[in-house]
Amino acid sequence: MASRLSRRAMRLSPSPTLALDAKTKDMQRQGIDVINFGIGEPDFDTPSHIKDAAVQAIQKGFTKYTPASGIPELKEAICKKLADDNGLQYEPSQIVVSVGAKQAIYNAVQVLCDEGDEVVVPAPYWVSYTEIVKLAGGEPVEVPGEESAGFKMTAAQFEAAVTSKTKILMLNSPNNPSGAVFDEAELRAIGEVCARRGIYIISDEVYEKLVFGGNKHVSIARANPSVKDLTVVVNGVSKTFAMTGWRIGYAAGPRDIIKAMGDLQGQVTSNPTSISQKASVAALLGPREPVEDMVREFGKRRDYVVRRFNSMPDVTCGEPGGAFYAFPNISGFFGRRAASGDVLKDSAALSGAILRDARVSVVPGSAFGMEGYVRVSYATSMANLEKGLDRIEAFLANLA
Ligand SMILES: Cc1ncc(COP(=O)(O)O)c(C=O)c1O
Repeated sequence: MASRLSRRAMRLSPSPTLALDAKTKDMQRQGIDVINFGIGEPDFDTPSHIKDAAVQAIQKGFTKYTPASGIPELKEAICKKLADDNGLQYEPSQIVVSVGAKQAIYNAVQVLCDEGDEVVVPAPYWVSYTEIVKLAGGEPVEVPGEESAGFKMTAAQFEAAVTSKTKILMLNSPNNPSGAVFDEAELRAIGEVCARRGIYIISDEVYEKLVFGGNKHVSIARANPSVKDLTVVVNGVSKTFAMTGWRIGYAAGPRDIIKAMGDLQGQVTSNPTSISQKASVAALLGPREPVEDMVREFGKRRDYVVRRFNSMPDVTCGEPGGAFYAFPNISGFFGRRAASGDVLKDSAALSGAILRDARVSVVPGSAFGMEGYVRVSYATSMANLEKGLDRIEAFLANLA
């Protein structure tokens, strides 16, 4: 008898970050004082001019189906943003608006990846990439970046992983979870391999505005113009404008790929929410001060978190160039014992014990394809960071 679930469904793992967030919120509902460092969304409110645009859209009755791939007004605002911020020229016909960057990435993989195609996924990686590739019948090929190289896959490592079956490279800069930001020369070199081998690139740039210190975000399609026709640039309003719940992302790329993504969307979800699309126009065309204020605050928190981790014995933490995560190396604690007597053999066991005994949620590095680390989100208040880091420090100091 055929099994109840499809092979596709059986290959799928649920999102470990969403599961951890649900567990943390469940504990909080039960009245347990848990500090949430597992979260992947800004703790700031959506700026008021963006909310106002949504209220106006509702009041004016902009509450019906829109074109499946997004309203022309938003596509034009996206083209302007890509030209002004990224130096990339696209026409509205090269843009598709989706239900978050997540759907844009899913759609791009679905229209590019055939059964058995290989997709290079540099590790550590955002948890959904490998599952999205598997859902398309593709084979994720993980290429781990070295901590000493800031967790960045080099062009040489990439080339060594390429085979005749390689179809796509999933690139994510600034990176979730490591915060790594690729510079122009690194992107040019990786792009050079793609151009030579005809490999498509899905460039996930959702954290582009969240860069600190001397780091600068550059899109690979700009760093190496010879790959622009092989690249689907993915971005969204979630992280930049504190709009995670509005569910608007977008992709820009070659017309045929974008059309196929829009056609797929037309059969699966239809348009992203009409009201959120209007709000996103206001976000992209409106004042940038709220974003700058948010980035300034994230920068202060980053410095604090990195300093705290590096002051803890047996922990090392590199300085993330972007996003809102620290990725400390906690492998020095493997083999030690928690109060429960459990031996902490890996990052999952350590994260489990930190949640249970220190009441702080962090995500194990293994969820991102890299053992030896935990991801700590600093998208939470300074008071929470102080309290949570005090708890982690005391927990680690007490391990036998
Ligand atoms: C690297 C990366 N890409 C994409 C997304 C999805 O963003 P969206 O809310 O636009 O779907 C996330 C969200 O956590 C992310 O970390």
